[in-house]
Amino acid sequence: MKVFPCLASLFVAWFAALGCIQAVTLEVKEGNSTCIKAELSASFSITYNTSSSTRTVVVPLPDSTTIDTASSSCGSDGRSPWLVALFGSSHALGLSFSTNGSVYSIANLTLQYNLSDTSLFPDSNSSDVVTVVSGSVGIWAPINTTYRCLTPTTIGVGGATVTFSDMRLEAYMPGNELSPAESVCMADQTTTTAPTTTASTTTTTTPTTPEPTPPGSPERGSYSVKTSNGTVCLLAQMGLQLNVSYVSQSQNKTVQELLNLNPNLTSSAGSCGASSATLVLTQEPTTMLSFTFTVNSTTNKYRLSEINLQANWSDMTAPFSASNDSLNYLRSTLGHSYMCNAEQTLAVEPTFSLNTFRLQVQPFGVTTNQFAAAEECQMDQDQMLIPIIVGAALAGLVLIVLIAYLIGRKRSHAGYQTI
Ligand SMILES: *[C@@H]1O[C@H](CO)[C@@H](O)[C@H](O)[C@H]1NC(C)=O
Ligand SMILES: *[C@@H]1O[C@H](CO)[C@@H](O)[C@H](O)[C@H]1NC(C)=O
Ligand SMILES: *[C@@H]1O[C@H](CO)[C@@H](O)[C@H](O)[C@H]1NC(C)=O
Ligand SMILES: *[C@@H]1O[C@H](CO)[C@@H](O)[C@H](O)[C@H]1NC(C)=O
Ligand SMILES: *[C@@H]1O[C@H](CO)[C@@H](O)[C@H](O)[C@H]1NC(C)=O
Ligand SMILES: *[C@@H]1O[C@H](CO)[C@@H](O)[C@H](O)[C@H]1NC(C)=O
Ligand SMILES: *[C@@H]1O[C@H](CO)[C@@H](O)[C@H](O)[C@H]1NC(C)=O
Ligand SMILES: *[C@@H]1O[C@H](CO)[C@@H](O)[C@H](O)[C@H]1NC(C)=O
Ligand SMILES: *[C@@H]1O[C@H](CO)[C@@H](O)[C@H](O)[C@H]1NC(C)=O
Ligand SMILES: *[C@@H]1O[C@H](CO)[C@@H](O)[C@H](O)[C@H]1NC(C)=O
Ligand SMILES: *[C@@H]1O[C@H](CO)[C@@H](O)[C@H](O)[C@H]1NC(C)=O
Ligand SMILES: *[C@@H]1O[C@H](CO)[C@@H](O)[C@H](O)[C@H]1NC(C)=O
Repeated sequence: MKVFPCLASLFVAWFAALGCIQAVTLEVKEGNSTCIKAELSASFSITYNTSSSTRTVVVPLPDSTTIDTASSSCGSDGRSPWLVALFGSSHALGLSFSTNGSVYSIANLTLQYNLSDTSLFPDSNSSDVVTVVSGSVGIWAPINTTYRCLTPTTIGVGGATVTFSDMRLEAYMPGNELSPAESVCMADQTTTTAPTTTASTTTTTTPTTPEPTPPGSPERGSYSVKTSNGTVCLLAQMGLQLNVSYVSQSQNKTVQELLNLNPNLTSSAGSCGASSATLVLTQEPTTMLSFTFTVNSTTNKYRLSEINLQANWSDMTAPFSASNDSLNYLRSTLGHSYMCNAEQTLAVEPTFSLNTFRLQVQPFGVTTNQFAAAEECQMDQDQMLIPIIVGAALAGLVLIVLIAYLIGRKRSHAGYQTI
């Protein structure tokens, strides 16, 4: 009799832990017919002010998300079809659709969040409800087809970003179910060899466990951040390896885990400012890594001042979070990029360090989508010295051999003469 409630609470905890991985299904209906249906996972990366600094949190769209039937609409009243999903304490995600008869698209995306929710925004110095709208979402499909994008797609909206993954969505639906014909997004076409036509339904649930891959050198990824007008303002190329220690559920002890970020599964987002720039990398569904660069205007130098990691891997007993905002890494001069081909270890917290490989970044002053001249790290400069030293040593050796030969020849000449 006592076992049952115990088991039940265990299951609740289990599902709560899985909450951020699971996809939600959202449906807007009018009468008996469905006009918008979306099956997706989403997470939001939101930056807010505390009294002393700024902080970035990643908020998953929870299972408990519901449709706001009062605001959502199928558009029969002359308005655009609108899907409004509510979650947590008065946070909302809105998708507005438009069509030209042959193609439908997300016309704009609205994110509303309530900074007085201290469970999501601890230490926020504001209690405002913030509403941000993005006009260029880039999600569209022919009418009577389902838009499909399993690859994470990140959309910037105000200072926040929204990352969708495992997404299937249709508006202006001809029936009550998603159309079997799928319009597959570009990212899915390049990262998988899946057919571009309707995929069989058995393959729809791709494994959502990009969990700890065996180590080895991580693959180098190319990441960028764009301003709202589409120009690239931050560039980064690097291989990244996370070194995290956490309490393992299966082993009931603290374990040290290395995870290589897989660029194919990682999306980038962020923001650029004159004195501070942030790059947010998200490997769906459970890893978020952010870098903040700041400028010292008296010296005209910039540095990597903050690293923040949030992770919720399946074997973790609790979501992992580590951040440090008083770092002093990757120092370079404004107008230059920073480069380090050698492996570097960036210590963040005792429980988390980051290994970088073949790194080049430029967080400020990017023009024409290209890196400016690079300032190289000391390790690379030292490594460059090795061939020079070896070369010099070889040249010296050749010289000695040559001199020895010449002397030897002179001696032997002298020898013949005395005989
Ligand atoms: C909705 O469904 C109910 C029962 O299935 C049916 O009686 C009703 O006529 C339907 N309404 C519309 C508008 O189709
Ligand atoms: C943080 O505060 C600064 C200065 O008041 C303001 O410009 C900025 O918009 C705030 N950021 C957020 C995310 O509220
Ligand atoms: C919140 O903090 C930022 C600096 O972090 C400051 O600029 C802003 O004025 C503060 N806002 C309020 C409402 O106190
Ligand atoms: C609708 O928009 C798409 C993409 O912008 C375009 O290719 C198509 O020709 C348009 N159709 C009509 C009927 O305007
Ligand atoms: C979003 O797009 C719809 C349809 O184009 C439009 O009616 C609505 O005003 C837009 N909302 C915002 C906030 O731009
Ligand atoms: C924001 O959240 C707080 C605390 O959860 C709540 O009291 C308040 O009503 C919310 N604001 C709105 C506009 O719903
Ligand atoms: C979409 O499907 C509906 C019902 O099957 C049909 O009436 C309509 O003509 C189709 N529209 C297009 C653009 O194919
Ligand atoms: C985009 O905005 C940046 C500043 O945010 C500006 O320097 C640049 O000229 C703009 N580019 C275009 C194409 O409008
Ligand atoms: C990972 O971190 C631990 C503890 O800081 C350290 O002992 C270990 O060498 C690190 N491993 C790698 C591959 O960086
Ligand atoms: C986990 O380890 C702790 C002590 O290290 C022990 O008290 C506890 O019973 C263990 N739990 C399980 C489920 O094995
Ligand atoms: C990423 O994709 C490329 C090309 O599709 C492939 O060659 C590479 O092996 C993939 N990397 C990983 C780590 O899956
Ligand atoms: C900028 O650099 C100077 C010289 O290194 C240092 O004294 C000053 O504290 C730095 N300012 C900031 C805001 O980090």
